[in-house]
Amino acid sequence: MNGEEIKKDFPILENRKISYLDSGATTQKPFQVINAIEDFYNRYNANPHRGAYSLSIEATEEYENVRTKIAKFINAKSREEIIFSKNATESLNLIAYSYGMSNVKQDDEIVISIMEHHSNLVPWQNVTKATGSKLSYMYINENFEIDDEEIENKITDKTKIVGITHVSNALGTINNVKKIIDYAHKKGAVVIVDASQSIPHMRIDVQALDADFLIFSGHKMLAPLGIGVLYGKKEILNSMSPFLMGGDMIEYVYEQDTTFAPLPNKFEAGTQNVEGVIGLGAAIDYIEKIGYDNIQKIEKEVVSYAVEELSKLDYLDLYLTKNKENHSAVISFNIKGVHPHDVASILDGEGVCVRSGNHCAQPLMRFLGIDSTCRASFYIYNTKDDVDRLVKGLKKAYSMFEKYIKK
Ligand code: ALA
Repeated sequence: MNGEEIKKDFPILENRKISYLDSGATTQKPFQVINAIEDFYNRYNANPHRGAYSLSIEATEEYENVRTKIAKFINAKSREEIIFSKNATESLNLIAYSYGMSNVKQDDEIVISIMEHHSNLVPWQNVTKATGSKLSYMYINENFEIDDEEIENKITDKTKIVGITHVSNALGTINNVKKIIDYAHKKGAVVIVDASQSIPHMRIDVQALDADFLIFSGHKMLAPLGIGVLYGKKEILNSMSPFLMGGDMIEYVYEQDTTFAPLPNKFEAGTQNVEGVIGLGAAIDYIEKIGYDNIQKIEKEVVSYAVEELSKLDYLDLYLTKNKENHSAVISFNIKGVHPHDVASILDGEGVCVRSGNHCAQPLMRFLGIDSTCRASFYIYNTKDDVDRLVKGLKKAYSMFEKYIKK
């Protein structure tokens, strides 16, 4: 299947006739995912783990089947290592509170990269402030990449936790997470991989990576909003206290004390987003049907074309890695001297959706010496026509602002 054929599976793209270039924020959903959610409400809606009647048992089975599907999808050793959350942010907060607060001590260090999304940054500021430890950053070079030397300088014997995004949401840089994990393990640190921007585009194998934790959101990989995943190595998850307390995460509750349920329930308090889980299961089926090889082929063709065409516009600043192989499906750019929000509104008038702003990465923007960028992020339903529309919109934006731009 090519992008044009895939597009037909996405009703919103047919209905709105837009060039949707904001999949980094959230992807559109194929009818297969939408139908799976409708089917859940039409046929087997009930609260999993709560009822002894067959409807609830069916809902439980379908919910738990998705857990098994995710474990296989990312090659986890055990399905109990898969915890459902609200989103990547909640998964990261769970790790920060339940692991970070009790395993990081005064004078220890937490190392993250300057490319982190606020969700993999602010929780660590909170942990370091509460524990008297230090937060340090791996910075990027002029090619928007982290050098091996930087990894080795920043991760030290004092480092207890390393948080790293697999793919930068703001720049598209693909980080060498395997190298970071191997080096951090030599120093005795655990590594949290934020796979939110990588799992829609590339196969993730948590055992091959040897990641201690890996998190992602469903909505960036064709699933509904409001469902996230936390993978953690079983022995680490077992050693952690629950994050949220309440229904279904307990074993026995007494007036003054409680014993907790085993994994994974220990970390899934309260009624869960079952429709989200069902939708995520259908999204994984869809991705597997297209296949990651094909996904990469489609994206490579469209993204390379976009880079080629955008590079012809000499009034653009492009924030791209030098080595194309280290770049994913995100292209950040600015029309020199024009605010990205203005550019995004003009593009919107042309039916092109891009994100503009700091992309929840203010420290990165500050490091780059800019406030914000426009970001075009591509996925399997994008075609060269979308790129042509983007370029046409940018030419229009430039022609409108040209006379105001200080040369
Ligand atoms: N984290 C999402 C993005 O990068 C919302 O746009």
